[in-house]
Amino acid sequence: MKVIPGPASVELGEKICELTGFGKVSVASRVFPDGESYVRLEGKVHGEHVAIVQTTCAPQDTRLLQLAFLANAAKRNGATKVTAVTPYLAYARQDKIFLEGETISVEALAAMFKAAGVDQLITVNVHSEPALTKFPFPAKTISAIPLLAQYFVQKGIKKAFALSPDKGAMYIALQAQSVLGGEVGHLEKQRDRYTGQTTQTAAHLNVKGQTVIILDDIISTGGTIVGAAKILREQGASQVYTACVHGLLIGDAEKRILDAGVEEIISTDSVPSKNSKVSLAPLIAQELKAQV
Ligand code: R5P
Repeated sequence: MKVIPGPASVELGEKICELTGFGKVSVASRVFPDGESYVRLEGKVHGEHVAIVQTTCAPQDTRLLQLAFLANAAKRNGATKVTAVTPYLAYARQDKIFLEGETISVEALAAMFKAAGVDQLITVNVHSEPALTKFPFPAKTISAIPLLAQYFVQKGIKKAFALSPDKGAMYIALQAQSVLGGEVGHLEKQRDRYTGQTTQTAAHLNVKGQTVIILDDIISTGGTIVGAAKILREQGASQVYTACVHGLLIGDAEKRILDAGVEEIISTDSVPSKNSKVSLAPLIAQELKAQV
């Protein structure tokens, strides 16, 4: 196997090469003055199974097209199999029709990947697993939650309360709990499909005097974490941390979360930022090594 670190994930792709020992094929890329993307493989891929590592956080559409172009270039240059590794998979939240007249964005994306030459997809903590059924080839999600939970254990925080901000993400809290060894629970969250506004409520949680880690797959505007932190403070939590796989952290999300009394925000390098304190490289390397 050879690894192609895409323009959006050069550092992560290189770490994966180091951990796996797989050869690297670099990419020359640029954006033309009118905004169009250009990519070129700088090494041989003939007869190879290649893994293109390219996250698809903002600017999503550019990064998705770069990935499609790289898959196409790999196939044109004789790659036998193309695995797209998207640490963050854009558009996975629109996995069904919510309102009349919409499209299933992730389904359209899957068709584009197929047409470009992708044979397999590996992503990390996809927002909705049903989204993966829209891909006309094997598509798999792997979980970075144990790695995030280990970060806290290594920091010396033991038996923290693992909290999910909604019932749907309870699987995340449970995975964290198995590493943290503390209690687990969730809040309730409702979203207005027209305005996107969410409201959160909580049954009584046993968090008084406890260190609580709010875990989610994505932090976007930060509204969910700010709301959860407020409830936790009201219920007497002593310290509140938050960890997510994909720290999109739009606008002033980070400031709002810290202002809400959260001690620290931890995310992975699926969306590179100063909060990316946990690398996905070991997780993805392990998955790719299992494929050869
Ligand atoms: C939604 O269900 C996701 O799991 C996250 O909770 C959501 O994307 C977070 O969004 P925000 O940070 O804008 O509240």
